[in-house]
Amino acid sequence: MKDFHQMLIERHSIRRYTDQPVDAEQVKLILEAALLAPCSKSSRAWQFVVVEDKDTLLRLADSKPGGTVPVKNCVLAVVVLMDPIKSEAWIEDGSVAASYMQLQAAALGLGSCWVEIRGRMHADGTPSEDYVREVLGVPDSLNPMCIVTFGHPDEIRRPVDPEKLLWEKVHVGKFRQDDAAE
Ligand SMILES: Cc1cc2nc3c(=O)[nH]c(=O)nc-3n(C[C@H](O)[C@H](O)[C@H](O)COP(=O)(O)O)c2cc1C
Repeated sequence: MKDFHQMLIERHSIRRYTDQPVDAEQVKLILEAALLAPCSKSSRAWQFVVVEDKDTLLRLADSKPGGTVPVKNCVLAVVVLMDPIKSEAWIEDGSVAASYMQLQAAALGLGSCWVEIRGRMHADGTPSEDYVREVLGVPDSLNPMCIVTFGHPDEIRRPVDPEKLLWEKVHVGKFRQDDAAE
């Protein structure tokens, strides 16, 4: 297991994957990470759809006109569905679960990418959420929030240089008005 902080330095969104399937045990660990994620009031307002079928992945890649290259290329995707009645913090809850899956994938040496669905539009002008609901048979009560793609990386991304982190975004004790935060 890699040192956690070094893993964060090396993690990047991966949009190109090899055809090698993700091991079933690794898929289980990724889903366990989602189910272990903290959530508001223990609401557990999430549902996850695991997709490995290539045709379904290609249909999901049509959810919106751009930004779906990872869905087209991946061997595994987890669609995060959220119940807004069960949790008023459903966006936060879903985001934490998606991030947990991405971190678990990184710890396993796998690549991943978050593909946004919430608030996006299909090419025909209808909400991407509706399109995903139709492809996967999701009830109207659940909001498809994002698709997280996974696989063995087929691209090399350079680790972040810790010297280049935006420390000006960090305020100590009090918000600094002088160099206006962007
Ligand atoms: C809320 C959110 C939405 C994102 N949507 C997309 C997307 O639709 N398509 C995509 O290829 N990447 C998407 N990403 C990945 C970001 O582009 C990526 O995290 C960002 O450029 C920083 O790069 P890094 O992950 O390599 O550090 C999304 C990430 C987040 C957190």
